[in-house]
Amino acid sequence: MSKKSTEDFSSLIKDITDNKDFDRLNKELHHGITRYDHSMRVARWTYKFCDKFNIKSINETTRAALLHDFFLNEDLADENGAQRLKDHPSKALENSLKYYELNNLQQDIIKSHMFPCSPTVPKYKESWLVSGIDKVVGAYEMLRYKASLYIGIYLLFLFEVIRLPR
Ligand SMILES: [Fe+2]
Ligand SMILES: [Fe+2]
Repeated sequence: MSKKSTEDFSSLIKDITDNKDFDRLNKELHHGITRYDHSMRVARWTYKFCDKFNIKSINETTRAALLHDFFLNEDLADENGAQRLKDHPSKALENSLKYYELNNLQQDIIKSHMFPCSPTVPKYKESWLVSGIDKVVGAYEMLRYKASLYIGIYLLFLFEVIRLPR
């Protein structure tokens, strides 16, 4: 991103990154990194894509992209992994609406981002865009961070096993 784009992006989301509850996502693990970093990456990629293709709703879409996973694990503590996968968009929307006014487009982006794992079908092209970016970012993060984490643990284990007979 150019310097101006980076500044524009930062000021566009400042009230969200300044929010103490949103900041708690820094302590939530997600795809091997924090949910905060994951959300920022989805928002940044969304902003860049909208900027490049002159999408008019760039500001609303980017802000909704940042809020798409605004939930804490404790919010869904009673649910198993599959239920959490399906239900967290509604929780993210509920949490977002506590602090921000969101139009129909933004609500749809958050609610439908897990389609087809959750039943809400995206209604707008921007919702399809964020849902797609979230999946690509998720796959990238799983490969980059989670796989390397598992390889690291495996190597540590291997070294321990090799060292033991000595
Ligand atoms: Fe999500
Ligand atoms: Fe996500």
